Amino acid sequence: MKPFETSLLGRMELNNRIGIPAMCTYMAKGDGIANLHHIAHYETLAKGRPAFIVQEATAIAAEGYISDACLGIFTPRQREPLKDIVEVVHDYGVKLGIQLNHAGMKSKCAAHKVSAMDNADVHALTAEEIHRIVVNFEFAGKWAKELGYDFVEIHAAHGYLINQFLSPLTNQRTDLYGEDRTLLLKEIITGVRSTFEKDVIVRISAEEYEEDGLHIADMKDIVEAIESCGAAAISVSSGGLNKHPIQTYPMYQIPYARAIKQMTSLPVMGVGLITKEEEIETILAQEDCDYVLLGRKLLRDPYFLLSWQDAFGLLTEENIGECLYRGIHKHGE
Ligand SMILES: Cc1cc2nc3c(=O)[nH]c(=O)nc-3n(C[C@H](O)[C@H](O)[C@H](O)COP(=O)(O)O)c2cc1C
Repeated sequence: MKPFETSLLGRMELNNRIGIPAMCTYMAKGDGIANLHHIAHYETLAKGRPAFIVQEATAIAAEGYISDACLGIFTPRQREPLKDIVEVVHDYGVKLGIQLNHAGMKSKCAAHKVSAMDNADVHALTAEEIHRIVVNFEFAGKWAKELGYDFVEIHAAHGYLINQFLSPLTNQRTDLYGEDRTLLLKEIITGVRSTFEKDVIVRISAEEYEEDGLHIADMKDIVEAIESCGAAAISVSSGGLNKHPIQTYPMYQIPYARAIKQMTSLPVMGVGLITKEEEIETILAQEDCDYVLLGRKLLRDPYFLLSWQDAFGLLTEENIGECLYRGIHKHGE
């Protein structure tokens, strides 16, 4: 595989193999409503022509925000400006997904924190309350479709609610949701697919960095659950419920992506401190994963892919417009 080749991901035709993972901008003002900062931010990222962007973790219900500066999709006023984000990203020929999330006990602002288990100020969800959350996700899928997103990413990583149900660290329930820790994830994927009707991607933490937590060898059941519900791809991250900070280094999560790719025929996305052209080329040439996600690299250098393409002689004024072309193209100076 090569960085600038086209490909088909689910039903989406993609222009290259590089995407931008979900990254919270923390720019909402306590109401979950996107504003001009969000529109400008996503326009800048889209101008750099990744194949796709995953919009930041967006809450499907009020108690699901990570922080009070996060976006929501569950009120009409929240949905109104999301249309503008979709439109501006599509203007650049870039696909846009929305990451749907419920933070569970990791919410910093919920009036009532919920999770799989009771714990201090955290309430263990009843089966009826779980059902209501699945319905919240289904509605979010319906709205994402109406808003024109190309795909939905379900956030089942980083220690948020779905991850709390998947992990033995936080789920020792004795009901159906404890007997099968993938049950909530399966219900959510199935529910969102039924309303969104397009490609649904799932983001997982493939390593929890805790002895009693999930490790890559435990991922088989989770991968099978994701496949069985008809998801289009798996995005492989790690951590979220670890007590101590993890050691990071270039491409530190790619071994997990490679291991997941060996478990599934679904396309796999890899991420984690990838910043250099050679790293991207090697990951793809070795087929460690099908898509490479660049987060912080493209936050600080949004036109990195354009400069790289220019070095290959692949950049044209027709593709990116005169202004950006004159800024990026090097005439040998
Ligand atoms: C500012 C910031 C916000 C983030 N927010 C999210 C998020 O909303 N959802 C998510 O799944 N990951 C989130 N992440 C993790 C990134 O998606 C990505 O996995 C991580 O930054 C590692 O990739 P990188 O080294 O290329 O940045 C965030 C990371 C950063 C730096």
